[in-house]
Amino acid sequence: MIKHIKITSKNAEEYFYLEKLVSEKSLGSFNCPVAEYNDYLFKDAIRSFKDHIAKTWLLREQKTGEIAAYMSLIMDAIKLSFTEKELHNLHYPFKTIPAMKIAKLAVNGNLSEKYRGIGSFMINAAMGKAIDCNVDYCAARFLTVDADIEHDKGVFTFYAKNGFISNAELYNKNRKTVSMRKDIYG
Ligand SMILES: CC(C)(COP(=O)(O)OP(=O)(O)OC[C@H]1O[C@@H](n2cnc3c(N)ncnc32)[C@H](O)[C@@H]1OP(=O)(O)O)[C@@H](O)C(=O)NCCC(=O)NCCS
Repeated sequence: MIKHIKITSKNAEEYFYLEKLVSEKSLGSFNCPVAEYNDYLFKDAIRSFKDHIAKTWLLREQKTGEIAAYMSLIMDAIKLSFTEKELHNLHYPFKTIPAMKIAKLAVNGNLSEKYRGIGSFMINAAMGKAIDCNVDYCAARFLTVDADIEHDKGVFTFYAKNGFISNAELYNKNRKTVSMRKDIYG
């Protein structure tokens, strides 16, 4: 039986390190089962970085340097209803609340035999980046994502297990994505 290593924020540094994507030269192989996430990494991530459209972080395996996962982060703002604001104790007259968005997140299928919890670790890493941003630069109350349920409806479950809830304003049962948020300070 294959024994998986469960990655948590406590042991992650033993196996992985995060690196900013700044050049296509540093890209090795990456094999996400959903092809469009490979295409984005190899064809669009660098251009988006250079155009200040999205900043990509690579998670590399310590031992091999192989890319285990990547995420692209962008600034965001979400509109919350009165009830949603109440839920987060946000008693403000305006609807729009600042956020940081996970625009892309994908795990390398080649490493999923060996490890569990990489996707969740990336969400925690995004939380860390949002907190750093709050401490030093600008405010973001939520982490947001458009959960891509087109290829795999389980992606919604993955985000829900990581503390994300659906946004009422953008909820539409015919969409290929579900707009979700996680309160960074909730
Ligand atoms: C979705 C994705 C990022 C999840 O990463 P991962 O490393 O497999 O997730 P984790 O191991 O951290 O899983 C955390 C929990 O979510 C569950 N989960 C993860 N993916 C799931 C899925 N597709 N369906 C149902 N549950 C899922 C796990 O079983 C685990 O549950 P547990 O804590 O009860 O054991 C990864 O499968 C992936 O890259 N998918 C393809 C690209 C994609 O769809 N990205 C989402 C873009 S919005």
